[in-house]
Amino acid sequence: MICHIQIVAIIGLMSRCIAWPDDPVPRLPIKHLREVIGQRFLGNESHVEHFKLLERAPTFILIGARNAIYNISLHDLTEIADQRIQWSSSIAHWELCNLKGASEDDCQNYVRVFGRQGPDKFLACGTNAYKPQCKQFVLKNGVHVGGKESDGLGLCPCAPQHNSTAVFAGGQLYAATFADFSGGEPLIHRKKIRTDRADLNQLNGPNFVSSFAYGDYVFFFYRETAVEYMNCGKAVYSRVARVCQHDKGGPHAFNDRWTSFLKARLNCSVPGEYPFYFNEIQSMSDVTEGFYAGRHDQLIYGVFTTPVNSIGGSAVCAFSMSSVLEVFQGAFKEQETINSNWLRVLPEKVPEPRPGACVNDSRTLPDITVNFVKTHPLMDDAVQSFFALPVITKVSFNYRFTRVAIDPQVKALDGRTYDILYIGTDDGRVLKALNTKAPDSLSEVGQIIVSDSQVLRYGQAVKDLQVVHLAGEASKLVVIADSEIRAVPLHHCDSPAVNSCVTCVALQDPHCAWDATTDLCVAVPTKLHANDASKTLFQDIINGKHKGCGYEEASQHHPYNTQLSL
Ligand SMILES: *[C@@H]1O[C@H](CO)[C@@H](O)[C@H](O)[C@H]1NC(C)=O
Ligand SMILES: *[C@@H]1O[C@H](CO)[C@@H](O)[C@H](O)[C@H]1NC(C)=O
Ligand SMILES: *[C@@H]1O[C@H](CO)[C@@H](O)[C@H](O)[C@H]1NC(C)=O
Ligand SMILES: *[C@@H]1O[C@H](CO)[C@@H](O)[C@H](O)[C@H]1NC(C)=O
Ligand SMILES: *[C@@H]1O[C@H](CO)[C@@H](O)[C@H](O)[C@H]1NC(C)=O
Repeated sequence: MICHIQIVAIIGLMSRCIAWPDDPVPRLPIKHLREVIGQRFLGNESHVEHFKLLERAPTFILIGARNAIYNISLHDLTEIADQRIQWSSSIAHWELCNLKGASEDDCQNYVRVFGRQGPDKFLACGTNAYKPQCKQFVLKNGVHVGGKESDGLGLCPCAPQHNSTAVFAGGQLYAATFADFSGGEPLIHRKKIRTDRADLNQLNGPNFVSSFAYGDYVFFFYRETAVEYMNCGKAVYSRVARVCQHDKGGPHAFNDRWTSFLKARLNCSVPGEYPFYFNEIQSMSDVTEGFYAGRHDQLIYGVFTTPVNSIGGSAVCAFSMSSVLEVFQGAFKEQETINSNWLRVLPEKVPEPRPGACVNDSRTLPDITVNFVKTHPLMDDAVQSFFALPVITKVSFNYRFTRVAIDPQVKALDGRTYDILYIGTDDGRVLKALNTKAPDSLSEVGQIIVSDSQVLRYGQAVKDLQVVHLAGEASKLVVIADSEIRAVPLHHCDSPAVNSCVTCVALQDPHCAWDATTDLCVAVPTKLHANDASKTLFQDIINGKHKGCGYEEASQHHPYNTQLSL
C-alpha cells in the first residue's frame, strides 16, 4: 500500500503505514458555495450571539442566544413572528457582574439549557451575567411567558465558552457543567445528586461535549486528563460516562452522591503495532440505527481529534450502543497504591450487589457497594469502535473536525443502504462522507469524502449540524455557528463541475446518479426507486465506475484518485 507523505512525516514509523487508510481526497471541492439556498439567520448582528440549539421540532428549532430564545422556521430559516422570547439579566445581576470586572459581553444572559416539560411548557437556563438562572416558560394566549425562576448553578455554565452539556429526561434536568465561575469545579449533576467535589478519579479537568438519555440511563461524553495514564507527561482520553435515571443517591452520608456513576474510555484509533489514537472527543451524534454487514445495530458516531498542539488529525469513529452497555457490565479498573499500575479488578473482589447497577432504591444499598463504586468509577475495558477503523480520518494543517450529523441508511440504486456523514470543521467547512464498505464488512472501511464545501465565512467553527427532511421540500443541512445559521443542500449532483457520466458516478454519492436519457447528473429520490430507473440511471457506490459511462480514457483510473498516490 502506498503511504501518504504527510502521514509518514507525522508518525515516522513505517510499520503504521500498513494499516493507515489513504487520506481521502474530496471528490468535489467547493470553494464558495454558490449553490447555497440563500437561507440564513444572523440574529442580532451587533454582537456575538453564541447560538445554541435548544430544541429540534419537526418544523422549527429553538435557538438559545444572547438575552433571547429565537424560534426559527425550518422551512426557510426565518424567525417565526412574535415568538421571540427576550430574557436579559436583571439590573442587579448585571451591576454585580460589572463590579467583579467582567466584560460587557460576559455580563449578559446566554441561554444554554432547555428541557421540555409538556406541549406548552418548558424550562430554560442561562448564564445570567455569571449567576446562572433557570426559568419556567408557559404558553399563554399564543406566546410564551416567563414564570418561576430558580438557581441555575450546577445546571448551566457561567459563561458561553464553557464546554457543558445538559439533557432533560424523566422530568429532570441532568447536566455536566461547572459549579463555579472559573470552570474549575466540574460536576455531573441532577437535582440533589452529584459527582464528588475534587475527586480526580471521577472527573479530571473535563470538557463535556454531549449527553442523551437511553433506556434507564443518561450517558455523558467528554474528554479529560487520564488518571490511568502512567507514562511521563499527561494524556487526555475520551470518555463515555453513565448514571441511572432512578438513582436516588446512597445511604447515610452518600445521600447526595451518585451510586451509579461509571465511565469508560472510548477508543478511536488506527490499528497497528503502535495504534494511532485520536484521543480528544469533540462531539457525539444521536443514536441511529441500521444494518451493517447484515447485522442490525444502534450506532453513535463521534468526532475525535489529536491534541491542539500537534498536527491536525481528525477522525469519525462509530460505536455500537450494545458494546457501550457491555463495557459497563465488565471488569473495573483500580490502582492499589499511588505508584502502582492500574489493573483489572478480579471478579472475587467486586462486592454484591454489583456496584453501579441500576436498582429500585439506591438508598438501601450496602455501604460496601456504594464505597466501591465511588472509588472505582473507571471500567477496565475501553469501548472499541464498531468498524475496525475510523469511518473517516483526515490529516490537515488547516482545520479539525468539530461535529458530525448522520443521515442514516440512505438507499443507493443497488438497494444497499449507507449512513451519510456530514462533518463540520473549525474553519467553516462541511464534508460529506461515507463508508462504502459498511453494508458488507465490519473489518474493512471504504473512506469516501464526496464533497468539501466552505459553508461559513472562513474561520467560523461549525458548532452544530442538523439534517432536515420536510415533506414536499428539498432536504437540507442546517449548519449552526456562533453568530450564523445556514441551510445548504444535502448534495451537489447539479454542480457545474459534475458534467459527465464519469465525474458523476465517481462521486460515489448515493444521492446522485447519471441520467443517460438527459445526460445530466441528477439527484435520485432515494425513497422511490422505480425498478426500471436503474436502466437509465448510472451509479456505483463501491468503485465509482459504471460501464454505462463507456470506456473513456478517464474511466481507466478513478478521476478523483489521480492526485492521491505519491
Ligand atoms: C441588538 O442588540 C442591541 C444590544 O446589544 C440592542 O440595542 C438592539 O436593539 C438589538 N437589535 C435588534 C434588532 O434586536
Ligand atoms: C415556535 O413556533 C412554533 C410554530 O409556530 C410554535 O408551535 C411554538 O409554540 C413556538 N414556540 C415555542 C417555544 O415552541
Ligand atoms: C471547549 O472546546 C473547544 C473545542 O474543542 C476548545 O477549543 C475550547 O478550548 C474548550 N473550552 C474550554 C474553556 O476549555
Ligand atoms: C484501541 O484499538 C486498537 C485498534 O485500533 C487496539 O489495537 C488497541 O489495543 C485498543 N486500545 C485499547 C486501550 O483498548
Ligand atoms: C422494582 O420495582 C418494580 C415496580 O416498581 C418491581 O416490579 C420490581 O420487582 C422491583 N425490583 C426489585 C429488585 O425490587
